[in-house]
Amino acid sequence: MKKKKIFFGLCRGYALFLLFFGCGFFNGTISQASDKSYVGAEKCAECHESEYKNFTEYAKKSNSFHSIQIMKKGLTNQELKSCFECHTTGYGESGGFKSENETPHLKNAGCEVCHGPGSIHVETNDPDDIKGSLTAKDCEKCHNSTRVGAFRYKPLIYGGAH
Ligand code: HEC
Ligand code: HEC
Ligand code: HEC
Ligand code: HEC
Repeated sequence: MKKKKIFFGLCRGYALFLLFFGCGFFNGTISQASDKSYVGAEKCAECHESEYKNFTEYAKKSNSFHSIQIMKKGLTNQELKSCFECHTTGYGESGGFKSENETPHLKNAGCEVCHGPGSIHVETNDPDDIKGSLTAKDCEKCHNSTRVGAFRYKPLIYGGAH
């Protein structure tokens, strides 16, 4: 595993070298291989069946795209996009959610919103390649009382009062 990491490190160095010296020919493929991206919760199920089962059965995250869809009608496109940050996986990050059509496997907030992008771990199966121990900080990006309060103001208005 160590060897692989060093190899990726070298690749990244090489990609930067190419970038700076204007010869970007191999650049795309090399940096893609070394950057972590999101694979979606279903991929994790292959090896973590019970976590996946519990997650899809009990965690509302596994259905979080639905939550914004039911609010869609009252929202502008721009407002709808603001929901993606918390209700999908990796929106705005490389290899993350783009749209329901392009990246259907990332439309819900999946395993990787907590454990981080899993593309490398899925290949190596190395626990060191995925975030294992988490702290409250890993949740605050989305479970932030002021931000959630502010953002949910509008959803609540449209959320069934009438
Ligand atoms: C091809 C098999 C495989 C796939 C696919 C896979 N894992 Fe793993 N994962 C493992 C193995 C093997 C371990 C180490 C043994 C264990 O803890 O079960 C592990 C360990 C972990 C750990 C514990 C890490 C630690 O520090 O102890 C987490 C968290 C994890 N995986 C999350 C994920 C997530 C999230 C996905 C999907 C993005 C995923 N895994 C996909 C095989 C896999
Ligand atoms: C990427 C954003 C994001 C991150 C990071 C995140 N959550 Fe969430 N979480 C959500 C969203 C969105 C919902 C609501 C889903 C819905 O109802 O549509 C939710 C719901 C929940 C719930 C409600 C109960 C349920 O059934 O799901 C709990 C508890 C929770 N999250 C805990 C956590 C914890 C603990 C962490 C950190 C380890 C965390 N979340 C990290 C977005 C996030
Ligand atoms: C900063 C992160 C964040 C953003 C942005 C966000 N949400 Fe949420 N949303 C959450 C979290 C966290 C929960 C679950 C915890 C809670 O109830 O506060 C949630 C829960 C929900 C629920 C379930 C309500 C319930 O009480 O079960 C709906 C519906 C929802 N959000 C819609 C939206 C819509 C629509 C948008 C965009 C306008 C949006 N959210 C933007 C984080 C966010
Ligand atoms: C809301 C955040 C959150 C989500 C989403 C989440 N996990 Fe975890 N996961 C945790 C926490 C917290 C731990 C315990 C870490 C620790 O012991 O410090 C954990 C531990 C694990 C472990 C280590 C073994 C164990 O059970 O303790 C594996 C494997 C794992 N998660 C896989 C997954 C998979 C697969 C998914 C999606 C199907 C997933 N997780 C979704 C928060 C999350």
